[in-house]
Amino acid sequence: MGVDTARSILLAVGSWDPEPWVAAIRAGDPERPLQVWPDLPVPSTVGYALVWEPPQGVLARLSGLKAIFSLCAGVDRLMAQPDLPYLPIVRVVNSDLARRMTEWVVLQVLIHHRRQRTYDRQQAARIWKELRQPAADEVRVGIMGLGVLGRDAAIVLRRIGFDVAGWSRRPANLPDIACFHGPDALDRFLARTDILVSLLPLTPQTRGILGIRLFEKLASDGPLGGPVLVNAGRGGLQVEADIIAAIEQGVLVGASLDVFESEPLDPKSPLWSLPNVVITPHAAAASEPKALIPPILDQIRKFEAGKPLRNLVDRDAMY
Ligand SMILES: NC(=O)c1ccc[n+]([C@@H]2O[C@H](COP(=O)([O-])OP(=O)(O)OC[C@H]3O[C@@H](n4cnc5c(N)ncnc54)[C@H](OP(=O)(O)O)[C@@H]3O)[C@@H](O)[C@H]2O)c1
Repeated sequence: MGVDTARSILLAVGSWDPEPWVAAIRAGDPERPLQVWPDLPVPSTVGYALVWEPPQGVLARLSGLKAIFSLCAGVDRLMAQPDLPYLPIVRVVNSDLARRMTEWVVLQVLIHHRRQRTYDRQQAARIWKELRQPAADEVRVGIMGLGVLGRDAAIVLRRIGFDVAGWSRRPANLPDIACFHGPDALDRFLARTDILVSLLPLTPQTRGILGIRLFEKLASDGPLGGPVLVNAGRGGLQVEADIIAAIEQGVLVGASLDVFESEPLDPKSPLWSLPNVVITPHAAAASEPKALIPPILDQIRKFEAGKPLRNLVDRDAMY
C-alpha cells in the first residue's frame, strides 16, 4: 500500500507540544506515515486527522480524509469551525481521562464538604477549632452531565457515601443514583442539590446554563450552609459575573472552577480572591498521549478492516 491511498495521519495539536503525541503514534504504528502540522507535504494522502484546535481551513484541504479524531473530550471548538468537513468525528472515551477527572471532582467535593478552605485559614492564623462535620450521606451531590466523565465521578462519590443524583439529556439508569433528565426535571434535580458538579459539554443548549437563576434554585437548607458550584465542563457553561454575585450575596457558599469564559483567567478577576473559591487552570483532566493514542490507532486499524468507528460525535446534538 503506498502513501497515495490516504492512510497517513495528520497530527495537529495547536499550542500543545507535538513530541509526546508523535512518539506515541510512532510507538503504536511505526509503519504508518505521519504528517505533523504545520508540515503538511502531501495533504491528499491524509486519511485520519488527530486534532486539538486545528487551524481553520486545514481539515477542509484534506481530500482523502476519512475520519477526525478529537484529542480532547470536549468538541465544542472543533464543532464551531465553519468549514468542518461532514465526516465522522471520534471523541475521547478513555479510562485514563475519566480517572483523572474523577480525582479532581472528588477532591473538590471533599474540599467543600470537609471545610478545607476554612481549616487552611485557621492554620494560617494558628487557630485550633474543630468545625461540625456532617456525614457524607447528609450531603446531596448533583452531577449535571451523566456521560463518560459524569458517570465515573457519580459512582465514586456514591461509593464514598454522598447522596448522589445526576441530570442528563436522555433517560439514564445508575444503581443508587437518582437520575433526572431533560429540561422539565431540572428544577427538581436542583432543589435536591447541595453540591452541583457540572460535567456538561458546551452546546447551544448548555451555554450560560450556570447562572444566577439556576443557582437560586439549588437547595439552601443543606448541611454546608448553602450550595456549592463545581465546574469542570467548559467555561462557556458559566456566567462568571453571576458566580461572583452569588458568592458575594451568599446564594452560593463556595465554588471550584477549572474552566473559564476566557482562558487564562484574567489576573484582575475577583474570582481569584473570593473566599471558598478554588481555581485550577483547566487542569482537571489532561489528555495523555500514552493513554489516548493506542485506542485511536486500534480504531483506525479496525476501521480499515471494515469495522465501524465507535464513540462518534452526534453532529445534531453537537457533542
Ligand atoms: N476540564 C477538563 O480538564 C476537561 C477534560 C475533559 C472533558 N471536559 C469536559 O467534560 C465534558 C463532558 O465529557 P464527557 O466525556 O463526559 O461527555 P459525554 O460522554 O458526551 O457526556 C455528556 C453528558 O452531558 C449530557 N448533556 C448534554 N447536553 C445536555 C443537555 N442539553 N441537557 C442535559 N444534559 C445534557 C449528556 O446527556 P446524554 O447522556 O443524554 O447524552 C451526557 O450525559 C466535555 O464535553 C468537556 O467539555 C473537561
